[in-house]
Amino acid sequence: MRYILLEREVLATTQKGDEIVRYTLRNDNGIEAAVLNYGGILQSLRVPDRDGKAADIVLGFDELEPYLGEHPYFGAIIGRVGNRIAHGKLTLNGRPVQLTVNSKTCHLHGGKRGFDKVLWKAAAKLTNDGQSVELHYVSPAGSDGYPGRLSVTVNYVLTPANELRIQYAAQSDADTIVNLTNHSYFNLAGAGTGDVLKHEMQIFADQYTPVDGTLIPTGELRDVAGTPFDFREPTSIGAWIDAEDEQIRFGSGYDHNYVLRPQTGEPRPAARVRELRYGVVMEVLTTEPGLQFYSGNFLDVEGKGGRRYGKHAGFCLETQHFPDAPNHPHFPSIVLKARDWYRSTTIYRFPPL
Ligand code: BGC
Repeated sequence: MRYILLEREVLATTQKGDEIVRYTLRNDNGIEAAVLNYGGILQSLRVPDRDGKAADIVLGFDELEPYLGEHPYFGAIIGRVGNRIAHGKLTLNGRPVQLTVNSKTCHLHGGKRGFDKVLWKAAAKLTNDGQSVELHYVSPAGSDGYPGRLSVTVNYVLTPANELRIQYAAQSDADTIVNLTNHSYFNLAGAGTGDVLKHEMQIFADQYTPVDGTLIPTGELRDVAGTPFDFREPTSIGAWIDAEDEQIRFGSGYDHNYVLRPQTGEPRPAARVRELRYGVVMEVLTTEPGLQFYSGNFLDVEGKGGRRYGKHAGFCLETQHFPDAPNHPHFPSIVLKARDWYRSTTIYRFPPL
């Protein structure tokens, strides 16, 4: 392997004197991933197409500034609990817990001071698996209503096998709940080149969790067979996105959790996406039981290079435990017992077409 220096750029310094830094990971095959210690944000991901020409395939901003304000969670690490909890309410060890309500009637993506909005401590490392950046954050007890002081480590690694691997670990000093993910929006033809409706999507799931009008799961696990949610075979994202279907209407498109096939503990395939014009393939592998497929239904923002990102300009595949898990005892639990380890791995892999 050629020795390539891991790039570290200081973008700003906070009033407290902390540096906001961008780390750029590279491998020998021309893949390049830029990660910010602010929000743990994957700011850009350059992947070569079938002709070897690299395009940035994640939505986001060129500058730091727009990341500091409200934005659609572009590329960010999401926590403590990703996705929605109805009314921010749950019961833990028989006691009521009230989390911040920050999205209509729900707690969404960790609340007001989610992991997308905090400054992480970061260390760049050259490992046997490739260049990596390790992020660390301690969330104080009571933050956004969450019990326990939670210590979190997220590791981004770019491997020679064209994998961007995200490893999560967390530990709390009191019983709590955790469900971490990454909120990247992908467009495999390049961010800002139009919508993703022609991308071919395959999701390795036989069921999904239907929602009510507030996007909270009803508790049902519904077969995808015979519905617009059937992506067991490669199907274009746009094929059924406007179907007359109550679930599609509730989500204004796809905004639903898929029930992945059982895992062995090792990351297993969750989804495979193909963009045929330029020839870019992305596989998602994970140890998680669920996958949120969000088809960028509410996008309307100016992004990198001054390009407008409109409806369906990108899609998210958020690996996770199911939304509102604490209020559905038959969903896999997101409870983390005091001093136990939470661990989760998700891989975005870019094989040849
Ligand atoms: C959710 C959407 C939400 C979006 C916010 C997604 O993970 O599933 O409902 O609108 O995040 O940008």
